[in-house]
Amino acid sequence: MRKKIVAGNWKMNMDYNEGLSLFSEVVNMVKDEITGTQTAVICSPFIHLHSLAQLAKGYDKVAIGAQNAHQAESGAYTGEISAKMVKSTGAEFVILGHSERRQYFGETNELLAAKTDTALKNGLKPIFCIGETLDERETEVHFDVIKKQLVEGVFHLSAEQFAQVVLAYEPVWAIGTGKTATAAQAQEVHAFIRNEIANQYNQQVADDTTILYGGSCNPKNAQELFEQGDIDGGLIGGASLKSRDFLDIVKVFN
Ligand code: G3H
Repeated sequence: MRKKIVAGNWKMNMDYNEGLSLFSEVVNMVKDEITGTQTAVICSPFIHLHSLAQLAKGYDKVAIGAQNAHQAESGAYTGEISAKMVKSTGAEFVILGHSERRQYFGETNELLAAKTDTALKNGLKPIFCIGETLDERETEVHFDVIKKQLVEGVFHLSAEQFAQVVLAYEPVWAIGTGKTATAAQAQEVHAFIRNEIANQYNQQVADDTTILYGGSCNPKNAQELFEQGDIDGGLIGGASLKSRDFLDIVKVFN
């Protein structure tokens, strides 16, 4: 049975104290209100990771993740954070390939393949993001784009390594826009992704892979999205900054 995950991506929001206070609210609610086997993951800025991991100790339904990590093991890369450093904070996950990293920081599939390798080597589970732009959807090349992101970003992994990866389908046109993919549109792409995994590895690997949907997911639309057969949870941006909204999304799996 593949895991259900709802991951919050705080992006570049929350100063240190705000982050701790938001996370404390989340942990308290998770502890009292989550009755299913789903995991809530909070992907915070680097500055919060160690403190959040300490607060999360003893709660197996909450995990912590970073939003990026460098591809090199260590070295003269001023201002960067390595996967080993992230792991040493107690974080378990790392988002890689978010469209904002691809768009604003020029992250290519090739670079992301290297980041994925380094993250895995250091015991982090990548939440690997893929998704098309509006133009790519309108010109109907979205399936090609997504396949290329998979092939060049993660399909070089062995089946054993791939088992540590969570995928997140995030149509770029739905991120932070209030415009969600319909449940049918999201399901269509998720089924396509699962089929590509089966072709690359095998049906068992495909069936075991957690594939999240991201893009203007909120407490109102989460239920319909998460009911789809190939959608195993969400990667939540804006709504993860409000503890009640985030928890209401996590509770869809109760
Ligand atoms: O990582 C999260 C996604 O970019 C979705 O962000 O929920 O604010 O649209 P959003």
